[in-house]
Amino acid sequence: MKKQILVTGGLGFIGSHTVVELIQENYEPVIVDNLCNSKTEVLNRIKKITGVKPEFIELDVRDEEKLSKVFASHNIFAVIHFAGLKAVGESVQKPQLYYDNNIGSTEVLLKVMDKYNVKNIVFSSSATVYGNPKRVPIYETDPVGEFTNPYAETKVRIEEMLIKLSKQDPKMNIAILRYFNPIGAHKSGLMGEDPRGIPNNLMPYVTQVAVGKLPELSIFGNDYPTKDGTGVRDYIHVVDLAIGHVLTLKKIEQNPGLVIYNLGTGVGTSVLELVHAFEEANGIKIAYKMVGRRPGDVPECYANADKAYRELGFKTKYNIVDCCRDSWNWQKNNPKGYDK
Ligand code: NAD
Ligand code: WQD
Repeated sequence: MKKQILVTGGLGFIGSHTVVELIQENYEPVIVDNLCNSKTEVLNRIKKITGVKPEFIELDVRDEEKLSKVFASHNIFAVIHFAGLKAVGESVQKPQLYYDNNIGSTEVLLKVMDKYNVKNIVFSSSATVYGNPKRVPIYETDPVGEFTNPYAETKVRIEEMLIKLSKQDPKMNIAILRYFNPIGAHKSGLMGEDPRGIPNNLMPYVTQVAVGKLPELSIFGNDYPTKDGTGVRDYIHVVDLAIGHVLTLKKIEQNPGLVIYNLGTGVGTSVLELVHAFEEANGIKIAYKMVGRRPGDVPECYANADKAYRELGFKTKYNIVDCCRDSWNWQKNNPKGYDK
């Protein structure tokens, strides 16, 4: 019998890539998503890649009644909880929306899991919980909680909620995964990141400059104390990240209790290095200009990725050039994202 995995937010960027890996590893994903930042076309793409169209139920995770029906009618082994809003700038404008959607949905989910005696959960946290890190690379034991925006605050609060729950209920297996900067796309060119409007994040901005949708990239700051003055991040290929979730489920199967992992590459890449890697990988020039720093940005953020390697066997396969090639392959084949 295949294990059923409830994937909240499973039509989104990271969720959809994880669903593909789950199917290929013989799990049976059941997707719930309210489509606030995704499209059902993703299901056709998953079918093209894997031969399987996964079950999808349209719902908001905050809808306790609908969510309960999903648990009642399935035999869920574990939940991977991707559903959430993730735009830092929007969270500053609309903090209540972020508290309600991200924290509220997790509260409902945990309540329903308890009702149906489901004890296994993997949660999408973020390197943003480290705030402005005191050192790089960042270890899981480094301080968290000095959030700089409401989005980050929701991740900190949910982590606290999960840690508290693990103390109250020793039967719970809880994996908190702190992602660094996911980029790249499925190598088929059928799935990738499809942001609404003008992208906030670097890689989708670069690909939209490359495809001619945007005129030039603004590089936010070249006076940071980094190798070339531009911000340094840990860019992880979304398929590597997806595989990290499968490895985490294998860990969960061993009843580990509470576990916390950084999912990153351990390599810091500057904005300029990323732009040059993109140009080299794809033979396209990216027009850019230097502008001032973006408020809230930190100079450097990259992972120490040893714990996930030691305990999960997680090791990234793709480097920054692979990421740039796959992001571009997705964008050029789908200039309008999942829209026709
Ligand atoms: P995404 O927006 O592509 O996917 C999130 C999905 O959740 C979307 O399909 C959206 O429709 C759905 N959703 C949102 N609120 C919902 C709700 N209340 N009920 C049901 N569905 C809901 O984002 P992503 O990049 O795939 O991120 C997935 C998770 O990983 C998020 O929790 C995000 O905060 C976290 N994360 C993302 C990044 C990143 O840079 N992409 C980094 C660290 C952590
Ligand atoms: C990367 C670098 C920018 C855009 C965000 C969230 C974080 C996590 C991942 C969810 C920085 C520079 C960017 C542009 C630029 N998400 N940049 N011009 O800020 O590291 O992290 O996404 O959890 O919480 O904050 O990612 O891609 O926005 O920026 O120069 O147009 O690119 O200054 O140095 P960030 P990013």
